[in-house]
Amino acid sequence: MSDAITQQVNKRRTFAIISHPDAGKTTLTEKLLLFGGAIQMAGSVKSRKTDKHATSDWMEMEKERGISVTSSVMQFPYKGRVVNLLDTPGHADFSEDTYRTLTAVDSALMVIDSAKGVEERTIKLMEVCRLRDTPILTFINKLDREGREPLELLDEVERILNIRCAPMTWPIGMGKGFKGIFHLYHDSVRLFEPHSKDEGELIQGLDNPRLDELFGAMAQDLRDEIELVRGASDEFDLEAFLAGEMTPVFFGSAMNNFGVTELMDAYVEYAPAPQPRQTKTRDVSPDEDVFSGFVFKIQANMDPKHRDRIAFMRVCSGHYTKGMKLHQSRIGKDVTIANAVTFMAAEREQAEEAWPGDILGLHNHGTIQIGDTFTQGESLQFTGIPYFAPELFRRVRLKDPLKNKALLKGLQQLSEEGATQLFRPLDNNDLILGAVGVLQFDVVVHRLKGEYGVECAYEPVQVHTARWVYCDDDRKLEEFKRKASLNLALDGAGNLTYIAPSRVNLDLTMERWPDIDFRATREHL
Ligand code: G4P
Repeated sequence: MSDAITQQVNKRRTFAIISHPDAGKTTLTEKLLLFGGAIQMAGSVKSRKTDKHATSDWMEMEKERGISVTSSVMQFPYKGRVVNLLDTPGHADFSEDTYRTLTAVDSALMVIDSAKGVEERTIKLMEVCRLRDTPILTFINKLDREGREPLELLDEVERILNIRCAPMTWPIGMGKGFKGIFHLYHDSVRLFEPHSKDEGELIQGLDNPRLDELFGAMAQDLRDEIELVRGASDEFDLEAFLAGEMTPVFFGSAMNNFGVTELMDAYVEYAPAPQPRQTKTRDVSPDEDVFSGFVFKIQANMDPKHRDRIAFMRVCSGHYTKGMKLHQSRIGKDVTIANAVTFMAAEREQAEEAWPGDILGLHNHGTIQIGDTFTQGESLQFTGIPYFAPELFRRVRLKDPLKNKALLKGLQQLSEEGATQLFRPLDNNDLILGAVGVLQFDVVVHRLKGEYGVECAYEPVQVHTARWVYCDDDRKLEEFKRKASLNLALDGAGNLTYIAPSRVNLDLTMERWPDIDFRATREHL
């Protein structure tokens, strides 16, 4: 392994923010990017007040509904480190996208609204992080508003999310009486000065008389409270954090950019550098000399000016340089990656190089799928990038029959992004669209119109669920294909699926065909 790679790996931090909508993820992201100065981003930060960053037509919809539909990637420097922040859609209907994005990070930041505590989406996203024991930092936001008691919030996180909390900072008051935060490990108080551009006065030492001067009798209350907090909560344990068993907790106000420096300082210090990744055959260490990476997301038509699809690849090992020849394991072919991109502000930039932990955007002309592995020749397949069986189905009805080709192309390309899945029955010409959330159907109609000039509508279809079909015994599989052909379809990537009209039908079929494997999730093959 080369020193240059090790050095770059140690500098990298790649993470995502997980939160329930409205907790303050976007606001926090904006503040983080301000720290970075030079902003490199793919896609855009959801923008509420200005549409400066809204580069895609279809983001109109996101604005209308006030949800973040797209994931984006941002890179920024922070205190000698290079931070890659992968944004995730907050809305439940886009959870598949979020799950896959979480497979591409090494840590996550959980944002909690201090008035609301642990909410439903936070619970779901934590479950996903648990699958890989992803280390989690916690930011309790909106301390400038009346919220719940901090000890009560920590207790809720511990109880509901089943993770130990180690408070790193502690709020002094809240809402109108919010005075600042005390750093339990630096023994310092940072004063809250609302609407100020400066960081607020730093007072060293809890017994500093300046606190009595400023707070009067409240200073002693603070000292007593901190003693209580130290007694009642866990001390930060780096190993437990890295194992995903403990979360360091920070308090602040994203909107006021308060408490964010403390969070980020700890983040770059404690969060793990790019970690080894599993493949079907072996673990790949980030500081291996040879390049490897996997695609976790495909997004079409990010920029209407470009009309193309971008595959987001997480670099897992080695060093990417422009013009490199890479081996695409699934199809067993070498491709020259001349024009991989990163994004500087809203403009696309060609990536000259990338290191483990970085995200590269590859132009995709339909040959790249989510889960694809790229190497420098070795045939590897990274594991753990899931597709989920959809739970909602609609038959797509075209309004103008002459546009059938465009419809098919649109549906195919949109399902490559992974948010919806297209099923084409073996026995008829129906086009059945499956999704995990109902909002995805609306997005498809909207995008088909905007990007492919196709108007379509939906019809109900008698499909309860889909299962991917696997069988080692070719003869059995052929027999199954013959006998069950009425309920068989190919998904967008050409995989055989069983389309079950009802739960009972699925149960009976599974009983009748014990040698056939019916899978609810599919990993990339
Ligand atoms: P999200 O991405 O997690 O969905 O949350 P987002 O950042 O959009 O924040 C949701 C709302 O919470 C926004 O208000 C935002 O301004 C507000 N907010 C975020 N951080 C803080 C904070 O520290 N204190 C307070 N008091 N509010 C905060 P909004 O009314 O939806 O939008 P806006 O009109 O304020 O921009």
